Amino acid sequence: MKGIVFTEFLEMVEETHSIDRVDSIIAEAAPPHGGAYTAVGTYPAQEMGALVGALARQSGTPAPELLRSFGTHIFGRFSTLYPGFFTGVTDTFDFLERIESVIHIEVLKLYPDAELPTVLAERTGPGRLRVTYRSPRCMADFAEGLIEGAAAHFGDDITIARSLPRGAAAPELVFSLARAE
Ligand code: HEM
Repeated sequence: MKGIVFTEFLEMVEETHSIDRVDSIIAEAAPPHGGAYTAVGTYPAQEMGALVGALARQSGTPAPELLRSFGTHIFGRFSTLYPGFFTGVTDTFDFLERIESVIHIEVLKLYPDAELPTVLAERTGPGRLRVTYRSPRCMADFAEGLIEGAAAHFGDDITIARSLPRGAAAPELVFSLARAE
């Protein structure tokens, strides 16, 4: 997993908790490099699981909830870091349709060793989008947070129903999105 995901996560923990909390979750997760993450580095995805698990234990907030709010947080950061992906896109559904065909492809050009999920978006009716998420890293809670971040960014009122309950670590899962018109 790319270092930018780790550095953004630790910055979020510093903002929403404290720098001491950053130190104590790194101490508990005990990554081999001592937690000196750099945005351009690449680290095993399990290290993110260990950091989120440590924060869950230390803060009492369930890990799925933490991953979801991290997804929403990082979406806001993506809109600052990668403004080009937002050019000409005016709503959440159009944006989500571009993840697989454009955005993650461009991400792979920037970071050839990025480990990206499959995110398929399909219109199922007026104001309805089905998003199929597939990844061996089973980060559906993070994906849900990213989708919520997109809805907040575009100002769309969207409800998300999942085919599996929150926290279910499955390699494939369907989000059914309904937009209030
Ligand atoms: C501007 C928008 C976006 C950018 C720039 C972006 C970029 C990235 C990057 C850099 C990674 C890390 C890859 C790695 O660590 O190796 C990632 C992972 C991921 N992306 Fe995106 N992404 C965007 C939007 C989205 C959205 C809207 C979704 C919603 C489904 C999504 C789903 C995911 C998930 C779930 C992962 C974690 C890895 C996995 O599940 O296998 N992304 N993305």
